[in-house]
Amino acid sequence: MQAMQKQFSFPKEKMKVLLLEGIHQACVEKLVQAGYRPELVKGALSEAELCEVIPSVHLLGIRSKTQVTDKALSKAKSLLAVGCFCIGTDQVDLASAARHGVPVFNAPFSNTRSVAELTLAEVVMLARRAAHKSQLLHRGVWEKSAEGCVEVRNTSIGIVGYGHIGPQVGLLAEAFGMKVFYYDILGKLPLGNATPVTSLEELLRQSDFVTLHVPETPETRNMIGAAQIEAMRPGAFLLNLSRGRVVDLDALKRGLESGKVAGAAIDVFPEEPKTNDEAFACPLMGMDNVILTPHIGGSTIEAQRNIGLEVGGTMLKFTETGSTTGAVNFPQVELPMVRDCHRILNIHKNVPGVLSSINSIIAGVGANIRAQTLSTLGEVGYLIVDIDKEISDTLRVAIDELDTSIKTRILF
Ligand code: NAI
Repeated sequence: MQAMQKQFSFPKEKMKVLLLEGIHQACVEKLVQAGYRPELVKGALSEAELCEVIPSVHLLGIRSKTQVTDKALSKAKSLLAVGCFCIGTDQVDLASAARHGVPVFNAPFSNTRSVAELTLAEVVMLARRAAHKSQLLHRGVWEKSAEGCVEVRNTSIGIVGYGHIGPQVGLLAEAFGMKVFYYDILGKLPLGNATPVTSLEELLRQSDFVTLHVPETPETRNMIGAAQIEAMRPGAFLLNLSRGRVVDLDALKRGLESGKVAGAAIDVFPEEPKTNDEAFACPLMGMDNVILTPHIGGSTIEAQRNIGLEVGGTMLKFTETGSTTGAVNFPQVELPMVRDCHRILNIHKNVPGVLSSINSIIAGVGANIRAQTLSTLGEVGYLIVDIDKEISDTLRVAIDELDTSIKTRILF
């Protein structure tokens, strides 16, 4: 990293790094050690607040609350990259970010196990009606009774979405002696003794516990509504630790009130407070058989630290070498840093002829290309060129002036 620092073109101390939503100290320390001076904001910013500050920001770190919209991105003249210090990236307009030449990084695996652990803990809490009994005891009511309380051993759990978290839930559930089914739109290799099923309806029909681990997409929005609740086993339980809009909470409330659904554990909501100071409201509040948690599935010290290091690391690597490995909206390009060499990074519109135009500009100043790599994704192309001749900023300007260029940087 030390060698890279000497090669860096834009002074680190002038680079504005804005970290919102209480990003972990491990990331802050990593950035400070690398020579940056991150500015920290505890909560999320509204769109208007973000639009005001974003023009001077080079690196933006957010978690799940700050919405990085097309409007904000169109004002982000200096922005190099956005780091989502979480798993989901639907809070960022990814297509707009790509069009503006801004890769978006996330941490897809850092909190997988944390979510899986809470899911299984809640399965047991629901089966034993322990959350309700705890609430009663806080109010001085001693309700020692086995009525309606069951072991989870020999029950079945249906996992919707078998990506990163789903299989971990399955493994932990098996350790409790549960029979595991899963449904995914993609063919997925089962872990342990899990059994794939071919439709959501089939999964709902045979599961005592249904747990959701899908992303929010147009297809998963309200994927559990009145019809799916009707298809569940009488007295089954529903858990949602994925994204709030995957469940129609009004339909779930009706299912709970009728007794069709015996209980639910909900960690994510269609509308969530932006900070801990804002009030929370949802239709399930006050229901005895519902465990509500404030989107804490992935909120462990281990996960936050892992996320901080992982996303902080990918953002630093992009800033200092141009590598976009792990970006969710961008061509993946990785080229080892070579000493005594200048590196041009050009983000451009993905149209024919870009490479030859850039190479003729480089040839025009008599520079020799040492290494070159180009990758494209959708409307965007990303080129890294290492050249071994002294080059001036004039070359960067000439390449940047091409109609096809979105952003051009030089590292040296
Ligand atoms: P992933 O992307 O690894 O897995 C998602 C799986 O869902 C994929 O296998 C995908 O093929 C499948 N899928 C997509 N659409 C589907 C559909 N219509 N029907 C069935 N399967 C479908 O995601 P990962 O890491 O397992 O996370 C799952 C969810 O958990 C995400 O929504 C994420 O935002 C959320 N999450 C929540 C946290 C919390 O604090 N509560 C923390 C971490 C993640």
